[in-house]
Amino acid sequence: MLRACVTGWPVSHSRSPLIHGFWLKRYNIEGDYSLRAVPVQEAASFYGGFAASGYVGANVTVPHKEVACAAASICCAAAERLGVANTLWLEDGLLVADNTDGIGFLASLDQVVPAWSEKTECALIVGAGGASRAVIDALVQGGVERIELLNRTEARAREVAERFPGKVRAFGLDALASRLSSADLVINATSAGLAGAELSVPWDGAKDSAIVTDLTYVPLQTPFLRGAASAGLTTVDGLGMLLHQAVPGFERWFGVRPVVDAALRDIVVADL
Ligand code: ATR
Repeated sequence: MLRACVTGWPVSHSRSPLIHGFWLKRYNIEGDYSLRAVPVQEAASFYGGFAASGYVGANVTVPHKEVACAAASICCAAAERLGVANTLWLEDGLLVADNTDGIGFLASLDQVVPAWSEKTECALIVGAGGASRAVIDALVQGGVERIELLNRTEARAREVAERFPGKVRAFGLDALASRLSSADLVINATSAGLAGAELSVPWDGAKDSAIVTDLTYVPLQTPFLRGAASAGLTTVDGLGMLLHQAVPGFERWFGVRPVVDAALRDIVVADL
C-alpha cells in the first residue's frame, strides 16, 4: 500500500488527511494518508532518513518547512527560490522537495475568477511572513508587473522586497489607504485574524473591479473579506489555496491528478 503523511509539530490541526482521504476514496486508490507528528529535535533525522521511513511522500507544515527543504537531495524551482518546502516525494530513493503554496494560490484564483491575471497589473499584499513570500514568488513568476507589500513592521516588508529585486515595493501599514486605490488584487497574508485582531481597511477607496482574497480560511469569511464584500468587491476565500496546494503531492504519490471541486470543499468546510 502506498503511504503518505503530513508532518509537523504540532500536526493534529491539519486538514490534509481529510483532503487526501477524500481523493483516495474518490479515485478508489489503495493508499493511506495520515498525520505524523515530528518533534522539533527529531526533524533533521526524520527528513534526512525519509527514504527509509516507508512513506512515498509527505506534506510538511510548520515549523519544519525549512528543515525539510534543507534535507532534500533535489529541490524543485519554487522550493529552491523560497528555501522552504511543503511537499516531498522520493525519486530513485532520493528526497525531492517542492513548494506548492504559490501555485495553489494561483490555481485557487483561477478557479474562482478565471480572468484575474489579465486584470491584475498591481497586486497589494498585506503581511510579510512565510505565506506572503510564497504568494509573492508565485505572482512574480506569473508575471504580475507591480507588487506592493505592506507590513505592520515596515523593515520586514523591506527585507522581503529585497528578495525580489525590482519587483516588489515595501511600505508600512500607514500607506494602506493610498496604495489601495491602485490595486487590482488585494491579499491579506497577515495572521491578524488568527490573533483576534482586525485590520482596518478603507474599502471605499478600492477600485470597484478589485479582487480581494485572504490566506486565512478559519473563519472562511474573515472580517477582511466581509469588509470587502460589503463594499461590493469580488472576494475569494483562503480555503481554495489549501485545497489546490495539495494537488501536486497527491498526483506524485498516488499517480492520479485529483480535482478540486465543490464536494471536496464541502467536507473540509464542515470540519472548519
Ligand atoms: P506566516 O508564516 O503564517 O505568514 P508570520 O511569519 O508569523 O506568519 O507572519 C505574520 C504576519 O502577520 C506578519 O506580517 C505580521 O506583521 P509583523 O511582521 O509586523 O509582525 C502580521 N500581523 C500579525 N498580527 C498583525 C496585526 N494585528 N496587525 C497587522 N499585521 C499583523
